[in-house]
Amino acid sequence: MSRLLIQNGTIVTGDDQFAADVFVIGEKIHAIGPELGRRFAVPPDELVDATGCYVFPGGIDAHTHMELPLKTTTSSDTFASGTGAALIGGTTTILDFANQIPGKTLKSAVKDWHAKANGKALCDYGFHVSVTDFNERTRREIAECVDEGITSFKTFMAYKGALMIDDRQMLEIMEEVKIQKGLVLTHAENGDLIDHLVEKFRKAGSLSPKFHPLSRPVIAEAEACSRIIDLARFADCPLYIVHLSSQSGLQRLAPALETGTEQRRSGKSEKPRAPIIAETCPQYLLLDDSVYSQRGFEGAKYVLSPPLRKASDQKHLWAGLGSGMIKVVATDHCAFTSAQRRLGVKDFSKIPNGVPGVEHRMELLYSEGVHKGRLSLQQFVNITSTNPARIFGLHPQKGAIHAGADADLVVFDPNEEHVISSKTHHMNCDYSVYEGVPVTGACRMTILRGKVVVRRGKLLAPAGYGKYLPRQKFEY
Ligand code: URP
Ligand code: ZN
Ligand code: ZN
Repeated sequence: MSRLLIQNGTIVTGDDQFAADVFVIGEKIHAIGPELGRRFAVPPDELVDATGCYVFPGGIDAHTHMELPLKTTTSSDTFASGTGAALIGGTTTILDFANQIPGKTLKSAVKDWHAKANGKALCDYGFHVSVTDFNERTRREIAECVDEGITSFKTFMAYKGALMIDDRQMLEIMEEVKIQKGLVLTHAENGDLIDHLVEKFRKAGSLSPKFHPLSRPVIAEAEACSRIIDLARFADCPLYIVHLSSQSGLQRLAPALETGTEQRRSGKSEKPRAPIIAETCPQYLLLDDSVYSQRGFEGAKYVLSPPLRKASDQKHLWAGLGSGMIKVVATDHCAFTSAQRRLGVKDFSKIPNGVPGVEHRMELLYSEGVHKGRLSLQQFVNITSTNPARIFGLHPQKGAIHAGADADLVVFDPNEEHVISSKTHHMNCDYSVYEGVPVTGACRMTILRGKVVVRRGKLLAPAGYGKYLPRQKFEY
């Protein structure tokens, strides 16, 4: 078995930081402590000098869409290209969404996603399953998914006629997921309100990209957040709101997020209520809706749902991360090239939704969060790795640095400065929504299950090195 020693770094975990070496044997962390080089008779095969660097647990991006088929096109990053970019940015595990095709089974969605990822993914991966067509057969399949280690189920309150389900189906899914000890993930936007506005803009001939955010106002998210909390409380089902984008959405969730945390901390309640958890994304923390007024069709690059909001919303999302109300930053990585965007050149509602970002989550969060004093190092590790590992049933194998855990480690130089550009990124997309953004801090080395998979920006992972991760049930 290979032996690797990381020396002279500062190990950072979700609750501590200390100077120590990490000794890795095979795929696992074997020991952590001072001067480990002297303690082992057999010298390591590889010595990594992490002087001046942090050693973080490998990042976990809990929300990606590789090779996502839509009606008219498929997202442009494959499991090979997207997971390679993830590793370069210090993300060692992704959780991707296997979307049920209405009329078909959950099982066939999962089979399709295994076929896309197996033998191609470079980082480790697991799946959520998106339930878009709920019926008695689907209900039975939820238990089968949980048995296979797929323990989180996405539901959509928007994308009517494609992915959206109604409130009755939502409740029935929640009731079943609760019984099976899973977690419901929800895209919270009011689909009817959005459809109504889209139709109005189309009738008025208002078809350019700037009408995308106007057709998905903040109230669509806020209303859906309130409704989904009420449904989750009624069903007493654990709920995770994906890609929260606005202050109003956060305000609606706030009492539920605090109550859940307080209850679990104080242990007052004998039977704690099912928790409600919130996720946001780098694009909502760093970009705002001024981009939609760019010339011509340029604004199309930023068409995603929910859309980008006001700069003032960003402040509240950062505060939510700082206070622990928002537990996870994931990317919602869903890349489409400029050519694919042009499917909506005559009608904004036909622009495929989503932005690329899986490569930059860790460094953007470090630079804008830790370097700018908005987050502590521990918060950074929790938000990017430990919290998603715990929430999605991967802890303590992932998201942690301790003897026995998978040796998924990032050697991170906090002082290296660079500028993000599509000319140097590795995602399969001909533009970057972060073009020109200066970043302080860079991933110098990524180690996945004991193997150096990235060294100074060079991808070294052998084809298909990524492993499928069955996950544990949701505990609270
Ligand atoms: O615009 C987005 N977010 N596209 C990806 C699918 C989703 O809604 O998460
Ligand atoms: Zn969504
Ligand atoms: Zn998504």
